[in-house]
Amino acid sequence: MTINNEVARRRTFAIISHPDAGKTTLTEKLLMYAGAIHIAGSVKARKASRHATSDWMEIEKQRGISVASSVMQMEYRGCVINLLDTPGHQDFSEDTYRVLTAVDAALMVIDAANGVETQTLRLLEVCRARNTPILTFINKMDREVRDPLDLIDEIERTLGMATAPFTWPVGMGRHFHGVYDLQQACMRVFQPGADRAGTDDEVITQLDDPAIQARFGENLAYAQQEIDLIKGASPEFDREAFLAGQQTPVFFGSAINNFGVREILDALVDLAPSPDSRQAMQREVRPNETKFSGVVFKIQANMNPAHRDRIAFARICSGQFKRGMSLRVVRSGKDVRTSTVVSFLSQRREILETAYPGDIIGIPNHGTLQLGDTLTEGEALQFTGLPFFAPEIFQTVEIADPLRSKQLKLGLTQLGEEGAIQVFRPHIGNTLLLGAVGALQFEVVTHRLKHEYGVPARIAPAKYQLARWVTSDDPRELQRFIEANAHRIAYDAVDAPTFLASFGAELSVAEENWKRIQFHKLREHA
Ligand code: G4P
Repeated sequence: MTINNEVARRRTFAIISHPDAGKTTLTEKLLMYAGAIHIAGSVKARKASRHATSDWMEIEKQRGISVASSVMQMEYRGCVINLLDTPGHQDFSEDTYRVLTAVDAALMVIDAANGVETQTLRLLEVCRARNTPILTFINKMDREVRDPLDLIDEIERTLGMATAPFTWPVGMGRHFHGVYDLQQACMRVFQPGADRAGTDDEVITQLDDPAIQARFGENLAYAQQEIDLIKGASPEFDREAFLAGQQTPVFFGSAINNFGVREILDALVDLAPSPDSRQAMQREVRPNETKFSGVVFKIQANMNPAHRDRIAFARICSGQFKRGMSLRVVRSGKDVRTSTVVSFLSQRREILETAYPGDIIGIPNHGTLQLGDTLTEGEALQFTGLPFFAPEIFQTVEIADPLRSKQLKLGLTQLGEEGAIQVFRPHIGNTLLLGAVGALQFEVVTHRLKHEYGVPARIAPAKYQLARWVTSDDPRELQRFIEANAHRIAYDAVDAPTFLASFGAELSVAEENWKRIQFHKLREHA
């Protein structure tokens, strides 16, 4: 098969949702329909273990499982679908953002009783910044939920995006009778049950048949009124607008009952885009170019603490990956061997022979690869767009035993490179500063320092509240700014200077006084 065909049949997406909306359930059902049942079991097991313990650290220990299910690949209707897991816990982490940079589409799952919730909104901001196309699944229609028109209205208002309903619910809760398919002009009748294959739905085309009207009663009449309203008020599905992230196709269903799930898979195949060109600093890279290129968007370290091994997750952007090929890390000029590169085709990590744009490959290494690294066959390319967010919470690290300070430094450097936390080295003094966007990141880091690096560390709140990366067109002006604000300057993992402030007002004053300095909330890997 030519590379063009392989690219055309790839779909790479992530599910974004607020916890408990049904992401795990839907993931399982998608995998089940695509015939990857084994993996489905592991998704459930993973979630179960998450429920079984209140100690998140215990789960962190099971990262073996989490790596296996962090990328799931399935085949459906001739398409290869890559589903990237976004870390699902309540607390927020930067990892989630970065995973979203590696996908071509996102599936937003909404709990029909709760509407658009906070976590979904934050993730959507990232999608919107990149114009990622979004499909919407409104879940749990078998419960007493909110009025569908209300939900549609809320999506449009909070997301600032038009909707194009593909299906519309007939009733809800105990009176949920199914969905009306606006494209096919028919109704699929709901049947509860988790084990159905979903191919045997009863389909009704003659909705004006008095027997059908009588069977579904006022729920059908009401749904028909709403559908008329929707048809009149909503624009038709517009593929261009969808691909530009301006319109979202909406589907209703109940994941736990396998209802409406097949339509989602079909929509991924029919509507979601295949890998497109990606912007590198030097030029635009087309997926069907013959030469390989890829970008590292996630690093998972110390799968086995005894070996200090890491897996770098890279998204292929162009060309074909072949096992054994030599890949250049453009940043360092070093080459990596690819004889042990793994795929995520099943629960086990499997040695990979070949892969194409849109696929995710896992490259074991000992620190050669960092977040944001571009890999090529030799060309000097650097993909843009891997975001680092200005931390919102800061802590200092202290260790009980000063003799372990070398270990601490090593641990923090590696965890910093992995993106688990941001580590800042102050311009003045030696106390390392940790920054994160979610409080849980600190817990994870102290736990891992202790267990993986043997350094019991205490973290204490730091006086800072916000950070901004600083740049200037004039290097001397930047140097002057750094000297003048020395006690508020720190350097991050790639030595980018950062201005730290305890209050918003301090930042405003600095911005006011230093017109030729730019203050950035987001640093894209360069
Ligand atoms: P998450 O990954 O987004 O956090 O959500 P998850 O799939 O775990 O679903 C959260 C809860 O919602 C689960 O119940 C799940 O069974 C339920 N759920 C998912 N889809 C539907 C649906 O279509 N209808 C209804 N009524 N419930 C649904 P739980 O009680 O937390 O867990 P469990 O004991 O069922 O496993």
